[in-house]
Amino acid sequence: MDVRLIEQTVKDVQCDALVIGVSYKEVGQQSREVILAEKAKEVNSLLGGLLKTMYDDGEFKAELGEMITVHPLSKLAAKRVVVMGLGSQKKMNAQSIRRASAIASRHAQQTGAQQIALALHSEEWSIDLDNSIQAEVEGALLGLYTFKKYKHANTNGNGQTITRINLLANHTNELGLSLAVDQGIALAEATNFARDLVNEPPNVLTPSELANRASAMAQRFGLECQVLDRPEMQELGMGGLLGVAQGSVEPPKFIILRYRGAPGSENQGIALVGKGITFDTGGISLKSPEGMHQMKGDMAGAAAVIGAMHAIVALKPAMNVTALVPTTENMPSGTAYRPGDILRIMNGKTIEIVNTDAEGRLVLADALSYAVKNGLSPIIDVATLTGGIVVALGSVMSGMFCNDKELSNDIIAAGQIAGEKFWPMPLDDEYKEAIQSDIADIKQTGGKYASAVTAAKILEHFVGDAQWAHLDIAGTDFIDAKKPYQEHGATGVAVRTLAEFVLRRAE
Ligand code: BES
Ligand code: MN
Ligand code: ZN
Repeated sequence: MDVRLIEQTVKDVQCDALVIGVSYKEVGQQSREVILAEKAKEVNSLLGGLLKTMYDDGEFKAELGEMITVHPLSKLAAKRVVVMGLGSQKKMNAQSIRRASAIASRHAQQTGAQQIALALHSEEWSIDLDNSIQAEVEGALLGLYTFKKYKHANTNGNGQTITRINLLANHTNELGLSLAVDQGIALAEATNFARDLVNEPPNVLTPSELANRASAMAQRFGLECQVLDRPEMQELGMGGLLGVAQGSVEPPKFIILRYRGAPGSENQGIALVGKGITFDTGGISLKSPEGMHQMKGDMAGAAAVIGAMHAIVALKPAMNVTALVPTTENMPSGTAYRPGDILRIMNGKTIEIVNTDAEGRLVLADALSYAVKNGLSPIIDVATLTGGIVVALGSVMSGMFCNDKELSNDIIAAGQIAGEKFWPMPLDDEYKEAIQSDIADIKQTGGKYASAVTAAKILEHFVGDAQWAHLDIAGTDFIDAKKPYQEHGATGVAVRTLAEFVLRRAE
């Protein structure tokens, strides 16, 4: 994909689709006034006031995501103009631009465009121009993402894809703008890389293949990559990961990616930990068949942290960051771990197994212990951990459990920039009662109530004195329904938030 800033009068921009933004402002209680983005104003006058007329006529209300296509009939060099609603000026932010850009780009691609020009941003609006351009690039690249490698080309569509995105700017030589474009590309590509990992079927993306892909990415961009095998796990005492892996013929892996942006620093830096269950059958406590195929996505936390490392190595913040990924399948078999077993985690604590479907906390316990032992802080783990968080927050927000106020504020703020929402959940000590065991240090599950919280309370046992946040993305990693801004499948959630978080900490 070729993405570039261009400095041209709107009339002369040659492309298959020119995308312009239209917003509105409330005046008084009853009425609204249309607000055209800078380039939309020019289009409006070239087309004899068409945009204003459509608005006044009530045909186009400029709501966020609303879209109308007009043919300029050779009054412009562009073949088509896609008019995108951006909603009310009051609520407009980078996320509005990101969504509008995604919807317009997807529509243009589905209707055969190869070259598009984007002009949703406006220097006259309150959103910072660099942020708008970055969001526009991200939106387009995220919206255009598809995962079709296992499907024959569609015979009735024209199969055309967009190969070039032009961004209309007034001054293309401004450093801030080209940095914004580069940052948008890096964050979107990293997100799409993570989406590919999650969308891959579980027969292809085994723990070994996940390690191969992480290591290939690391080699290509110059990250340090180390993959631990069973003997090394045994030496380190990773009883959680080894216990879960026992039922599978696929060997488990412990993937370590290191980025050293502050080589002289004493500070070991940030740990990003991702749950990497490449398929979760539930094990001996087998899941029911409905929806089990979606458990190929149980490594979305791993994909998020590997994707974040991809973005981080591209953007080069001055900060040390280590990604840790415990990865295995969770299978039932004659060698599988059982309810009733007691496993010993790397930090020495024992866990009484009651349900082999609660495997995520066990593999994370080892990875968190590894992070603590290596002096990493803060530690942020990302995991499709519980059905409970899906019940609580659905697919809109991810749950965040955090033992440090500043860390949680920073994650929420990074999420706002990235267009991802994290909702603070409790870690109150009274929830500990539910995970007390008579015969081990901890009981593996705390029953059906507040299951997302009791799962987080188990993780808390393994973070020592580190600042720590746990992001439960079980509801946000995958979308079943087609959305106008995104196709069905993996979302790549948390990649951009983690990268933004690291960038801001490095400043
Ligand atoms: N991977 C699942 C959680 C999950 C559920 C992810 C739905 C995505 C969508 C996890 O391993 C699991 O099975 N959790 C159980 C734990 C229970 C047995 C204590 C759950 O939350 O039901
Ligand atoms: Mn499970
Ligand atoms: Zn799971």
